[in-house]
Amino acid sequence: MTSLVVAHTRDELAAALESTPRPRALVMTMGALHEGHLELVRLARERGETVVVTIFVNPLQFGPGEDFATYPRTLESDLSVLEELGADVVFAPNAGEMYPGSEPQVLVHAGRLGELWEGISRPGHFDGVLTVVAKMFHITQPDLAIFGQKDAQQLILIRRMVADLDFPVEVVAAPTVRSEEGLALSSRNAYLGEIERAQAHALWAAIEAAQEAAGLGPEAAREAALAVLNDAEGLDVDYLALVDLLTLNEVEPDFRGEAVLLLAAQVGSTRLIDNALLTLGTT
Ligand code: PAJ
Repeated sequence: MTSLVVAHTRDELAAALESTPRPRALVMTMGALHEGHLELVRLARERGETVVVTIFVNPLQFGPGEDFATYPRTLESDLSVLEELGADVVFAPNAGEMYPGSEPQVLVHAGRLGELWEGISRPGHFDGVLTVVAKMFHITQPDLAIFGQKDAQQLILIRRMVADLDFPVEVVAAPTVRSEEGLALSSRNAYLGEIERAQAHALWAAIEAAQEAAGLGPEAAREAALAVLNDAEGLDVDYLALVDLLTLNEVEPDFRGEAVLLLAAQVGSTRLIDNALLTLGTT
């Protein structure tokens, strides 16, 4: 295929995908694309013969009082970067196309893994995410789908859904893309003022501190990160936890091996999350 085809309806998408070569690689986004999303698209380009990108701000995963209405929407510039990167098809439906009639009555329930960490401050969020991911998998029929490590809990839950509900899709993780100062790129960074952006860098400083102390074990890593965050100005920590990659339970003090450090903090009115894989207790 040579140029980008943009589909807004299921019928347009079906027509665009007809007789496209496989493997078909899917990248799902809510738009306002930044370098983090683009890395996923590059990976999809490497792995797939056909690259499909979805752009849909999914109302189902936003809670009351969250930023659904104000979430940045930049479709025109998103389409031009996707064209440049060589994506083949973009599916950008509206809410009526995705949820005809009204809100769906039947959802994918994330279960216990969806009630921890992000799920505590955002009840129902992961049910909304998994429901739209399941729908997009059905609608776009990909062979593989790329998701960012940036949203670690989301990635774990998507893998779990694919395994538990037998989706014939390979889930591929892409590493977190960061600014030069270490801030994980996020569409929500657009909400940060200059001072808040500087304050948000403490999240990366905390991760670096934890990485340095990781050899000494979970307690040392956790305390090192916490010390950085406690010293940071303008940052209200929601949670900081070192968790098992499959269960999302906090690891025991004598745990050795790979775990993920999950962080969430409020900076001004913006909620930011970050995470990093740590290898604990090897020194
Ligand atoms: P969104 O926040 O737009 O992210 C789309 C994809 O880009 C996700 O897989 C996310 O993990 C990845 N991503 C975001 N920032 C990244 C970064 N700095 N580095 C690497 N990857 C990054 O996540 C969602 O949308 C939605 O929940 C969605 C899966 C599309 C369902 O609505």
